[in-house]
Amino acid sequence: MSDPKKLYIKTYGCQMNVYDSERMAETLGGQGYVETQTPDDADMILLNTCHIREKAAEKVYSELGRFKGLKAEKPDLKIGVAGCVAQAEGEEIMRRQPLVDLVVGPQSYHRLPEMEAKTREGAKALDTDFPEEDKFEMLKNRPKAKRGPTAFLTVQEGCDKFCAFCVVPYTRGAEVSRPADRILREAQDLVERGVREITLLGQNVNAYHGAGSNGDMTLAGLIWELNKVDGLERIRFTTSHPNDMADDLIEAHGTCEKLMPYLHLPVQSGSDRILKRMNRSHTAESYLRLLERIRAARPDIVMSGDFIVGFPEETEEDFQATLDLVEQVKYGYAYSFKYSTRPGTPAAERSQVDPQAADDRLQRLQALITRHQREIQDAMVGRTVRVLFEKPGRLPGQMVGKSEYLHSVHVSDADVGIGDLKDVRITSSGANSLAGALV
Ligand code: 5AD
Ligand code: SF4
Repeated sequence: MSDPKKLYIKTYGCQMNVYDSERMAETLGGQGYVETQTPDDADMILLNTCHIREKAAEKVYSELGRFKGLKAEKPDLKIGVAGCVAQAEGEEIMRRQPLVDLVVGPQSYHRLPEMEAKTREGAKALDTDFPEEDKFEMLKNRPKAKRGPTAFLTVQEGCDKFCAFCVVPYTRGAEVSRPADRILREAQDLVERGVREITLLGQNVNAYHGAGSNGDMTLAGLIWELNKVDGLERIRFTTSHPNDMADDLIEAHGTCEKLMPYLHLPVQSGSDRILKRMNRSHTAESYLRLLERIRAARPDIVMSGDFIVGFPEETEEDFQATLDLVEQVKYGYAYSFKYSTRPGTPAAERSQVDPQAADDRLQRLQALITRHQREIQDAMVGRTVRVLFEKPGRLPGQMVGKSEYLHSVHVSDADVGIGDLKDVRITSSGANSLAGALV
């Protein structure tokens, strides 16, 4: 038998891309590829790109430029670009960077084997269609290899919301939910391979409405089905839109034992004027009322969110409203970004905020978020949390895992293995993690 060919995948951006990269590697496994951690010995390099912020495309071009030497040494090396930059740029990528052999958009990953074969014949392969067939079903099954205790599982893709700043509806396309039975089968398979915690993924995961045994199933319905899977201990989901936070999902946060008390629910801004201009279809007030209901169902839930500062036309007063909202919510985690113009989106045409003012706002917002984050983490000291151990820590004898609230927790010199779920009493809180001892 010939030696396996080596595949190097570099993943940018969100968890969805992490999941997609795994599935692409598995699919190309059927073509005789095994993954390698360095581009130097690869027979194929795939960049799985993200287009959500910053000069994404430019970064991809400069990364590609760095492979020139490798390709010169090894003319058989194939170079591919996948992900949202591939979708947005299409053929332009091959025009600007002739060393690229393959360009594949997120909806066409199941076509990778044919595309790879085409490149082996010396041709270029491009596919940025939005085909009708079920990509996930056609992607090759995962090999039965053992896995770590946590895994992502994409259940829904695409978005119909069209927030004025966002490229997702253009690069990932319209919202599509996978049928429930296929998701359950995939979950079962993951559990058989050692997974104990599954994070359900979707750009708008709480809008999930996949075909179930009797009609469409909601995300809560799907979570209840997963709750029955023996050996699966924890369920999480991300990322959600406030308008799709249905009653049954809120209720599940109070009653479904495997659903973890953590919710990522981006609000983007605290100013109603800006929210309207963002086409968000909720107000700061309606978001806060929604949170009251979620917290009534699950009082200890830790909230997480996303913010954009310096959105076109944002004034100091608008920004102040964002700080006020953050002050009221107190996020356990929050991600804040400076607005970045995405060509083709409605907000790109509007009058931009002075970059220095935007920088200054970002710093102030992040300082406030960091303070809350730290307060919430520090408040865990003295409490007992349940930790799913994932890997050895940096120091000898240390093991690290995540609490139900997604805090990193480490213990030292304890008898725990990867995949163990144990009660830990928290003894101290550091910059980015908690330390404790087994109970
Ligand atoms: N500029 C800055 N941040 C953005 N996001 C999405 N599009 C943009 C943009 N053009 C942020 C939003 C979203 C997160 C995934 O990325 O906060 O929730
Ligand atoms: Fe983008 Fe999320 Fe808005 Fe959809 S809901 S357009 S993915 S920010």
